[in-house]
Amino acid sequence: MLTLYSNIKQLVQIENNSEQKNSVKGKEMDILPCMDNAWLLIENDRIKDFGSMHSFPVGLSFDQEINCTGKYILPTWCDSHTHLVFSHAREHEFVDRIHGMSYEEIAKRGGGILNSAKRMQEISESELFDISLQRLHQVMDMGTGAIEIKSGYGLSTEGELKMLRVIRKLKDQNLIDIKASFLAAHAFPLEYKENHEGYIKLIIEEMLPKVVDEGLADYMDVFCEKGFFNVDETDRLLSAAAKYGLKPKIHANQLYNSGGVQIGVKHHAISVDHLETMDDEEVACLQNSNTMATLLPGAAFFLAIHYQPARKLIDAGLPVALATDFNPGSCPSGNMNFILSLACTQMRMTPEEAVNACTLNGAAAMELQHQLGTIARGKKARFIITKPMSSLAYLPYAFGERVIERVVI
Ligand code: NIG
Ligand code: FE
Repeated sequence: MLTLYSNIKQLVQIENNSEQKNSVKGKEMDILPCMDNAWLLIENDRIKDFGSMHSFPVGLSFDQEINCTGKYILPTWCDSHTHLVFSHAREHEFVDRIHGMSYEEIAKRGGGILNSAKRMQEISESELFDISLQRLHQVMDMGTGAIEIKSGYGLSTEGELKMLRVIRKLKDQNLIDIKASFLAAHAFPLEYKENHEGYIKLIIEEMLPKVVDEGLADYMDVFCEKGFFNVDETDRLLSAAAKYGLKPKIHANQLYNSGGVQIGVKHHAISVDHLETMDDEEVACLQNSNTMATLLPGAAFFLAIHYQPARKLIDAGLPVALATDFNPGSCPSGNMNFILSLACTQMRMTPEEAVNACTLNGAAAMELQHQLGTIARGKKARFIITKPMSSLAYLPYAFGERVIERVVI
């Protein structure tokens, strides 16, 4: 089946196969290769070809034509950091925060991640799957074409396996690309509050072998943060995961300078994520690495803490990805369009930088850059068709408005 999308006002984030990039960094991030007045040819689930309407190939055959006058086409969003599999919303904690409690205080009294972990014990695997699938459809409808999903609300062997099996069942639906991260090291469960060693041992000796044995995880994640897992514990967990070939993607420097960036880079992490709190030392450390800096401005927005220093990172020549962090505590939204707007309004990223961060760099943060993230011949045909709009900048500008007309997956 050959489908031609014709008269596209602008085809965004195009890439010629001879110049395929793994990611874009620094000044390059402000360059978004686009073609005005373009056509795009899709064969089944792959991008076959594209070009300018001015040089439309004579005799090009296709089965159907979709006219895109006035509209933009761009690759679907690659959301490289989510906790989409969770049991219940936590709006009561949201109200507690309005009344003055901090995220940390709520966590200390047994709320936060532990609250979600308690609810995780109570829900059946099939119910968890059903609500997670609903959420997956929701984010796909908002333009997400690849996603990473973490465990981390199980905090017991049984609970973590339940979450990871649900993620695998989501993968089995063959809707979009999904990567699974094993995040048992998200918080210390109550029964191990005074026995950190015991929980680390449980993760390394009992959970990890089972997770690997069932092939349930693509990555290892640790919440490296004051009050959660310290650098030494993170180091040991990542070393244990490395023995099984699990690469790290970790939570670092959300609330404090946790040392998470350095330990992530030491272990060749695919990405270090959050990064609200960054000094020159962390920036220098990333400069000497292949690790992606993944920023989660939705969490900074929702917790009302300061935003990640995107300008500082990009101006230092680094690659930056953007993701939602979709979770019930710090960002109950999986809407990448809002993330795009936040990046521009709050972190002073240009629309071009933000689109690069949500597409190619997001794909790279899941090692999917050869399949997704740009409009390139042979890549998977997953793209967003916008409503007619005046310029690409309208996309982050019109926050809260549904600018997407259709998501093709
Ligand atoms: O990425 N910071 C750690 N984990 C999540 C929040 C989890 C929760 O509050 O449920 C995050 O923000
Ligand atoms: Fe997170």
